[in-house]
Parts: sequence; C-alpha cells; structure tokens
Amino acid sequence: MQSLDKRRTFGIISHPDAGKTTLTEKLLLFGGAIQVAGAVKSNKIKRSATSDFMEIERQRGISVATSVMAFHYKDVKINILDTPGHQDFAEDTYRTLTAVDSVIVVIDVAKGVEIQTEKLVEVCRMRKTPIIVFINKLDREGLDGIDLLDEIEEKLGLNVTPLSWPIGMGQRFKGVYSLYEKKLVLFRPHSKQQEDTIEITDLTDPILDKEVGESLADELREEVHMIEEVYPDFDREAYLKGELSPIFFGSAINNFGVRELLDCFIDIAPGPLPRVTEEREVKPEEDQFAGFVFKIHANMDPKHRDRIAFMRVCSGTFQRNTNYLHVRQNRKMKFSNPTSFMAEKKTVIDEAYPGDVIGLYDSGNFKIGDSVTEGEVLHFKGIPSFSPELFRFVNNANPMKAKQLAKGLTQLMDEGVAQLFTKEDNGRQIIGTVGALQFEVIQYRLEHEYGASVQYEPLNLHKACWISCKDEKKLKEFVSRRKRDIARDKDGQLVFLAESAWTLKMAQENFPDVQFHFTSEVEV
Ligand code: G4P
Repeated sequence: MQSLDKRRTFGIISHPDAGKTTLTEKLLLFGGAIQVAGAVKSNKIKRSATSDFMEIERQRGISVATSVMAFHYKDVKINILDTPGHQDFAEDTYRTLTAVDSVIVVIDVAKGVEIQTEKLVEVCRMRKTPIIVFINKLDREGLDGIDLLDEIEEKLGLNVTPLSWPIGMGQRFKGVYSLYEKKLVLFRPHSKQQEDTIEITDLTDPILDKEVGESLADELREEVHMIEEVYPDFDREAYLKGELSPIFFGSAINNFGVRELLDCFIDIAPGPLPRVTEEREVKPEEDQFAGFVFKIHANMDPKHRDRIAFMRVCSGTFQRNTNYLHVRQNRKMKFSNPTSFMAEKKTVIDEAYPGDVIGLYDSGNFKIGDSVTEGEVLHFKGIPSFSPELFRFVNNANPMKAKQLAKGLTQLMDEGVAQLFTKEDNGRQIIGTVGALQFEVIQYRLEHEYGASVQYEPLNLHKACWISCKDEKKLKEFVSRRKRDIARDKDGQLVFLAESAWTLKMAQENFPDVQFHFTSEVEV
C-alpha cells in the first residue's frame, strides 16, 4: 500500500451542476468508503444559498471533512481532493489543483463546455496536468458526441481521444462501447446493477444488433470507424504529459460508465509526481520528507480560532510527533495530531506518504505555499496567487482597532481568502478577489474574529497583473510613469492595476520589455 505507484491523488472539476458531487459519491461507493448514496451531498454549496455567505461558510465548514476523500480500490489508494463548486471560491480550487497529480473533468452532455470548466482547465493546462474527461448525463438528451468533442478541443484547447462511445442518448440510451476494454457495456436502468458487460472483440458481431437494435448498432459501427480514423490512438505518455485527454461517457446518477472510468483511471493515471522547488526538483521516492501547504481552512466559530492547514506530502515519509523545519519561519515544529481523511471520518495518523494530504492544526503559523521539510531549505513553486478581478479600497472604520485590523487582514490573506495590495503613490490598501462573496466574508470575519471593522469603497479595475522586466532601468521607468496604477502585493512584488482591458493592452504595447503576468509566480 505504501509503494508509490499504488497511489492516485486527483481532483474532480466541473462547472456547477455537471455532476461532480454525484460522480465523487459513486467513486466512494465503489471503494466502499461510504455505504449509502447521499452521503456526500452535504458538501455541496447549494444554489439557493448563493446570496447568503454565512450559509456558504457553514457549508464550507462541513466540507472540511470531505476536503480529501481517500479510499482503496483494487489495492490502490485513491485520494480525491475536493474542490468547491461555487465560482466565488475558484481560487481555492486553483490552489487545490497544485496538490493533485491528475484531474477528471465532468461535462454535462446537454450543456457542453461551460465557463467554469474553461477557467479550471486553463489552470490545468498551464500546469500540464493529465486530464481525463467524463461526459455525464447520457440518460438525457444532449449534444451529438462528435460535436461535443469538437467543442472540447476548441474551447478547452485539449487534444482528445474517446475511450468509450455512447450508444444512443436520452430515452434511446443503450450504453457505451468501451474502446479501451473492447467491451459493450449495456445500460439496464431497471436492474439493480444498472449495467451489463458483454465482451465483443469485433463490432460486426450480431450480438450488438440483438442488444441495441439494428439502427443503433449501425450508427455505432459507423461512428467508431470514424473515431478510429480521426482521433489518435490512446498514448499514455502523451496523456501523462497533459497532451492527450481520453474521453468517457456515462451517467453518474445511474452509476453507469463509472466503473469503466475508475478502472481505466487506476491503470493510466499517474502516481505521485515530482514537485519543483526554487532549489531543485523533489522526487517522491526520496528518503527525506518534504511537503507544502496548499490550503488553509479557518474555523468559523470565534471560540475556536484554530485553522487546519492542508499539506501535500511530496517526498519521504511524514511522521507524527517528529521535529520538522517550517522553512519560512526557520523554526522546528512537530505535529501531534496530524489527520487524514477517509471520506467522512477524520483520523489521527502516524505516517503519511507522497501523494497523501494531511490536515495540520494551525494556530496561525502557516500561509499558503509554506514548505515543511526534515531540514532542507526548499521553496515549492507552482502555488501562485491568481490575478484577482474584483477590487475595493479598504478603509479602517474603527481607528482604535488598527492593530487588530492589520493582524486580521494579514491572517486572512495568508489563508488565501483574497489578496491585499498597497498603492505605491498614496499607500492606500486594496483588496482583490476572484469572487464577490469574499468581500462579505472578510468584513464579517474581521469583525467577529478580530474585533476590527472595515468599510469598502468601490474601485473599478479590470485586472491586477504582476510585472517584471529583465532591464531594471526600464521597469523603474514604467513604474514612475504609471505610478498611479502601481501597487505592491503582500510580498512586496510589483503589480500593475489595469483599469480596463484596453489600458492593459496599451501598457503592453507601449512597454514591450515589461512583462505582465496573470499569476504571482514571476520569473525574470
Ligand atoms: P455538481 O457537484 O457538479 O454541482 O453536480 P451534482 O453532482 O450535485 O449534480 C447536479 C444535478 O445533476 C443533481 O440534480 C444530480 O442528481 C444530477 N445528475 C448528476 N448526474 C446525473 C446523470 O447522470 N443524469 C441525470 N439525469 N442527472 C444527473 P439536482 O436535481 O440538482 O439535485 P438532487 O436534488 O438530485 O440532489
């Protein structure tokens, strides 16, 4: 169990409502991690609650327990890292994607590629994360399979190859033909198992006509013939490099096509991958332990200020009650209650291995991106902040509580709730977020957890981008010419505040040597 190739750590991403929760649940049922359907539902932020951030935070609190769902299937340990479905928490999702080795993207057959899927896949592409696509809800009428593949290629920028192919759809849905296993998987909505598998090595086999009817059988033969002509053969190497994405079809709610997906997934998906640090590449097979924090979850209860820092183990073996180095603070720490997550159960663990995610109780020592090692100074890369899109000036509404406000803001920013920028010309502070809800969350939490209060002032900006330039002089010139639009992030990095897409474009054109980055990870 501890061997590396027996671990799969991945995330499921989708536009809300495509079926991520349902698929997660079916996977957990397969692994025996839960016994009944409906167990994962509590994790979902319900649509009706979108305007009520307290409710959303409450539900997010519940979701701590399901942040990582681990289970065993065919002697492989599978860690599913949950990602919030709500778009206002997209940045949480981006960061969680830094801790996975691969992803499964769920697409609703009727809706096709939706906006949230585009954004999330873009982050995966940036990181060259291997992607498997599951097209869901085949029990409903939807888009034509080939059109959908075109849309996926076009909008998501992926090269695809189907490993299963649907036979009919909606009322006429008969099942899928698995190109991966050369099997006919028949949809039996009224039987207990809901699927029947028949091996067919040759699509001319008359059993196909018997099972799905002549017309659908012919359609399938034709389509499979075309797929084999048009799409490349599945090539695992290309998939592992993030250059080819296999596609599966099914219906999560009916538990159909899920086993095929899971079986193929454990065959082809990568085990724990190396991680890049500023100093060197860290390989999972190394003896010495190293890990990084990718998510911090605060407790909403003001009586319990503790937080949980989620750490991905990257190399070696993590051990409980052992002295480790908190690299940024340059001090030794040990953890007496590290937890692992098995579906809904949280348990204290003694050891964890590369690919595992553990929860560490934290009283404010961690911030996102922090490294913990056996002593080596390592700074993990690839855990950047992303360009926020919504901005407001923050003003201290209670001058007596300036200290509390400063502390509260620092801690909330460390948790990654939002980003704080300080303008170069007048020192004013700006909060930038990916979602509008965060402003309310920050205001509420500052008041309830830190006794500080803020007032916001509207600020219309298009984007904040980090800037860099090989030529120090040119960067200085840009900064002095555009002083009004320059700020620094919490680490002192220079940021350009673009009022509109047009201002950004003009700045890029007028200062061709200056580089504008959409994540904080800036390489000069
Ligand atoms: P999400 O996590 O991606 O947001 O989606 P979720 O799994 O919650 O699924 C969204 C809705 O789609 C749910 O219905 C779910 O039952 C339904 N669904 C999931 N898979 C399938 C499928 O294969 N076929 C069909 N027809 N529907 C599917 P809901 O009515 O919003 O919620 P609920 O009342 O069923 O919980």
